[in-house]
Amino acid sequence: MKYPMYELIEKKKHGKVLTEDEIRDMILAYTAGEVPDYQMSAMLMAIWFKGMTDKETADLTLAMADSGDKLDLSVIKGTKLDKHSTGGIGDKTSLIVMPVLAALGVPTAKMSGRGLGFTGGTIDKLESIPGLRSEFSEEEFKDIVQKIGFIDAAQTAELAPADKLLYALRDVTATIDSIPLIASSIMSKKLAAGADRIVLDVKCGTGAFMQDVDSARELARQMIRIGDLTGRKVVAVLSDMNEPLGHAVGNRLEVMEALEVLSGGGEERLRHLCEKISTEMLQLSDQARPTPEEAGKAVREVLDSGKALELFRTYVTVAGGDVSFLDDLKPRAEYQEEVKADSDGYLVCRNASEVGLISVLLGAGRAKKGDAIDPEAGIWFHKKPGDAVTKGDVIATIHTGKQEALPEAVRRLKEVCPVRPEREAGRPVIYEILR
Ligand code: URA
Repeated sequence: MKYPMYELIEKKKHGKVLTEDEIRDMILAYTAGEVPDYQMSAMLMAIWFKGMTDKETADLTLAMADSGDKLDLSVIKGTKLDKHSTGGIGDKTSLIVMPVLAALGVPTAKMSGRGLGFTGGTIDKLESIPGLRSEFSEEEFKDIVQKIGFIDAAQTAELAPADKLLYALRDVTATIDSIPLIASSIMSKKLAAGADRIVLDVKCGTGAFMQDVDSARELARQMIRIGDLTGRKVVAVLSDMNEPLGHAVGNRLEVMEALEVLSGGGEERLRHLCEKISTEMLQLSDQARPTPEEAGKAVREVLDSGKALELFRTYVTVAGGDVSFLDDLKPRAEYQEEVKADSDGYLVCRNASEVGLISVLLGAGRAKKGDAIDPEAGIWFHKKPGDAVTKGDVIATIHTGKQEALPEAVRRLKEVCPVRPEREAGRPVIYEILR
C-alpha cells in the first residue's frame, strides 16, 4: 500500500477529506488482503462519524466497482436500464417491472441479491419456481437480454468484491447505517453491472434502512450525485415501507401476487408503484414517450393486455424453470393458519420489519447467510392497514412447513398488526421522485 493505513485513519478521524488516490489505494489493498480488518473497521467507524464529501463517496464507489469484474453490455443494442430497491418486505416490483419494460422494447439487465434478515431478495422469489436458474455465464447473461429483453441474475462474487468484504465488516462493526457507505455500496454494484441508466426505489419507513423521508431523500440525493459524477443518469423514487408491499410476504406467495399484477389486476399500492417505476424507466430509455402521461398509458397497456405476462413466462422457460407450474400456482405449505380479528375496527401495521422477521421464523427468509429457505412459507394479508375489519374476519393466512412456529407467529402477527378502534391516517405509496 502506497499510503500508510494509520495515516488515512488519522486523517478521516479528524474529518479531513481523503483523495481519490488514497481511497483507491486503500480499497484495492483491502480487497487484496493487505489491510487488516481492525484497521478497516477503524476507518469505517471514522467514516460513520465524520461522513464523506460527495466526491469522496463517488471515488469510493468507483474504487469498489473497479475491484473486480465489470460487465460490458455494449453488444446489447440501445440504452440499458437497471432498477434497484434498497430493500423491503413483500417487495416483488422487479418481477413486474422488468417484463413490462421488455414488452415496451427497453432492455433491462439486473443483478440481484438473496434475502437476508427481514428483507427479501428477488433471486429467492424467482428461484421458488421449480428448475429456474439464476446463475449464468457472462455470455448467457447477454444472450438472454438480447433474446427476451431482460434478465435478473444472482450477483456473482467477482462483481465488486470490495463491497462484499466491506459489507460483511460493516455488519459486525455497527457501521451499516452510514449514508455514504450505503450509497457507495449500492452504486458500486450498479456501476460494475454495466447499465447506462438506473432507477432506484429508495424505501423509507419501519421496514427499511431509512426510517424517515429526510434520510431517504439524503441517501437518494447521494446516489444521484454519484451517478452525475460517474456519467450515469439516476432517478430515485422514494416509496413507503411502513407496511409490507401488497398482500404477500414470502417467496412463492410473492410470485403469485406478481402474476396478479402482470395479469392486469393486483393490489392497488403495489400496482401503482410498479406503474410509476416502469414509467420512470421508460422515460429514461431510448423509447421515451413525448409525455409522462403517454408513458404511463403504454405501461398500463402492456400490463392489461398480458404482453408483459407472456414475457415473464418466456423468461421462466429460458431460465430453465417449469412454466406449467405458473398455471397452477396456489399456496402449498403444509400448515396454513388463519389469523382472525379479535374486535371490530381498523387494521394497523406497527412495524414492517417485524412482519419480515415473522416470515423468517416461518422459514421464508434467512437469519444468516447460507441458511436454507422454504419457498412455500410466508404470510398472505387479506386485509391491509387502514381497512375496516369486523371481529372474526380473517386478517392474514400464515403459511409454513414448521408447525411449531405457528403459535409464536400468530401471537407476534396480532401484536404487530392490531385492530384499533380508530383509523390511522394513511400514507402515500410514493413520497416523491428525485431526478
Ligand atoms: N444494500 C446494499 O447493497 N448495501 C448497503 O450498504 C445497504 C443496502
